[in-house]
Amino acid sequence: VDDGSGLPNSVEWVAGSIRLLDQRTLPGTVTYLDITTVGGLCDAIESLAVRGAPALGAAGAFGVAMVASQFGDQASVRSEAERIASARPTAVNLRWGVDIALAAYERGGGHAALAAAQQLAAADIAANRAIGEHGLAVIPRREGGARVLTHCNAGHLATVGYGTAIGIVRAGFDAGLVAHVYVDETRPLLQGARLTAWECRALGIPATLIIDSAAGSHMARGLVDMVVVGADRIAANGDVANKIGTYSLAVLARYHHVPFVVAAPMSTVDAATASGADIEIEDRPGDEVRGVGSAATAPEAMTVSNPAFDVTPADLVTTIVTELGAFTPNELARHLVS
Ligand code: MRU
Repeated sequence: VDDGSGLPNSVEWVAGSIRLLDQRTLPGTVTYLDITTVGGLCDAIESLAVRGAPALGAAGAFGVAMVASQFGDQASVRSEAERIASARPTAVNLRWGVDIALAAYERGGGHAALAAAQQLAAADIAANRAIGEHGLAVIPRREGGARVLTHCNAGHLATVGYGTAIGIVRAGFDAGLVAHVYVDETRPLLQGARLTAWECRALGIPATLIIDSAAGSHMARGLVDMVVVGADRIAANGDVANKIGTYSLAVLARYHHVPFVVAAPMSTVDAATASGADIEIEDRPGDEVRGVGSAATAPEAMTVSNPAFDVTPADLVTTIVTELGAFTPNELARHLVS
């Protein structure tokens, strides 16, 4: 599946294996991993070779298709599928993608699982394009175009194609509504600096990289017209789990009267999770914080707290844009029960 941007695909099925763009080596080199085992897939997910909620959903679905082609019995396929689904806990799309392919397998075998995964992947690009279109309405109108701040990477690389938050930026840029993107570095793993900055440059969208702690001062100086981020899970009440630091941005945006927009497909909305308090937040290794790359930046034995995600309460979210349209968190919550 190709989104037409010329950017390399984050996840695709190639001749019986899962081809992942290795996001760990970006922006330096474009390399791929051809995944043929569940262990390999779980390693790739845990080490963030493939990352971003929608890309994880597709990787999970293709993972089940791979397992179904390798194991003859249902019990093994189910238990291998469970290994994949639990490789990372916060992005609901991973389990969602696994469950869809597993249900297809149980109905129609390996071919059905692969067909379901392919369909899910194509639907992700379509959803992201729709998010981009619906997002046009929420971009503040400003002479010369809006200046948008984003966090982490919710772009092409985090999805099967086109991106969610960056999907809105792309659609807005193409429509002349977005002039500039401020990209948070996104400590500790630098998804903003490594991935979003790289995407913006590849797409020709003017962008400036800032350290995470400069977001507030840029808002205070009147340089930010909108914050737009992705999501790993949206609870039934509209609370949003996303990359650590998102919550701080939402608090800053509220103080500075800047709209705070969340872009995500409905596959990220989890009606079964009542509120943000029920979302499991992944804790990651302390070494990610004690250093940058292989360089130590803290004492070796330093105690570290490294939650990979935080929860932004619905009250701080101005708009949630999905493929179905732009909603306030309350409207989305009502939509889920209707
Ligand atoms: O740890 P990561 O890089 O997988 O975290 C990704 C994010 O937090 C993204 O914002 C989210 O998954 C949405 S991607 C469209």
